[in-house]
Amino acid sequence: MSDLDSINSSFEQKIKSLKSKEELQILKTEFFGKNGQITKQFKNLGNITADKRKEFASSLNKLKDRLNTQLDSKFIELETLEINEKLKDQKIDITLPVRPFQNGKIHPVSQVIDEISSIFSEIGFAVAEGPDVETEYNNFTALNTPEDHPARDMHDTFYLEENKKILLRTHTSPVQIRTMMNGKPPFKIIVPGRTYRCDSDQTHAPMFHQLEGLHIDKNINMSHLKGCLDYFIKEFFEVKNLKMRFRPSHFPFTEPSAEVDIGYRIEKGRIVIGEGDKWLEILGCGMVHPNVLRNVKVDSNKYQGFAFGMGIDRLAMLKYGINDLRAFFESDFRWLSHFGFDPLDVPTNYRGLSK
Ligand code: PHE
Repeated sequence: MSDLDSINSSFEQKIKSLKSKEELQILKTEFFGKNGQITKQFKNLGNITADKRKEFASSLNKLKDRLNTQLDSKFIELETLEINEKLKDQKIDITLPVRPFQNGKIHPVSQVIDEISSIFSEIGFAVAEGPDVETEYNNFTALNTPEDHPARDMHDTFYLEENKKILLRTHTSPVQIRTMMNGKPPFKIIVPGRTYRCDSDQTHAPMFHQLEGLHIDKNINMSHLKGCLDYFIKEFFEVKNLKMRFRPSHFPFTEPSAEVDIGYRIEKGRIVIGEGDKWLEILGCGMVHPNVLRNVKVDSNKYQGFAFGMGIDRLAMLKYGINDLRAFFESDFRWLSHFGFDPLDVPTNYRGLSK
């Protein structure tokens, strides 16, 4: 038997009895490794006399190819076996009981933001957003609140650096500035978002939510503001005969400015929004000050409009009878299970009370 024949038959013997991929690897090394039997034959080619070398080399190459093909198909065979073994072990037991499953709830603040957005979108307001970390310029100066202005102290600002140039926004009004600086009038936006003031008790949290509104166009006046808020408040509280009053007030960025109260009464210890002899303040508003328009390069001779700002958490508390604001931000699952909403709850007023 020639060398090549004996290599071949020893290979055939060994590959038959292989049981694993590890053994296959060992066999591969035995024949094709650095000192493998086939490798050695190749190294030995130089020692064969020239007349026999060509024929021998051709047989050697054929043998090499044959063995390699066998190694490849053995690998596939072993791998299939391995997978089938695994599948046998890892059968799924469909009789096992399911794991306990708990549905999440939508937080009242998120729910109220959705409700408010859909109410305002019906009268053409788009939703805009801005960052929580703001410049002192956008939060105060551009909003016509110069340095030393008492409004800056009223806001109990969290400053983020010594020079008081960067801060956590104290209201959503800086998004008015961002929107007007980056676009062209008309503007008709609402801005829900987080706001921050250094304040904490049963009705104040250092982080709370506001909703800003801004409508700037050529012929916008205070009656549009009144009509808009009247529509919103009635839709939101789902009360047709809701009493609302405007009280003169002051904000540096609006002139004239007003605060809006809604009527309510207490019935069996609970607040009932609508008619009644008591008043509850719910928002600040006014006609955008010409200085603000000037700061954002909007021509105040051509364009004017109104802005308003309200506390979203407060609205949620009033509508859904929640009396401690701090619970909103404690992430207590039991609280959320009680006061939260199911994901597919369409706000009941979605179809519009006033139509
Ligand atoms: N930014 C005011 C506040 O936080 C509210 C407001 C907004 C008033 C827009 C008028 C116009 O108190």
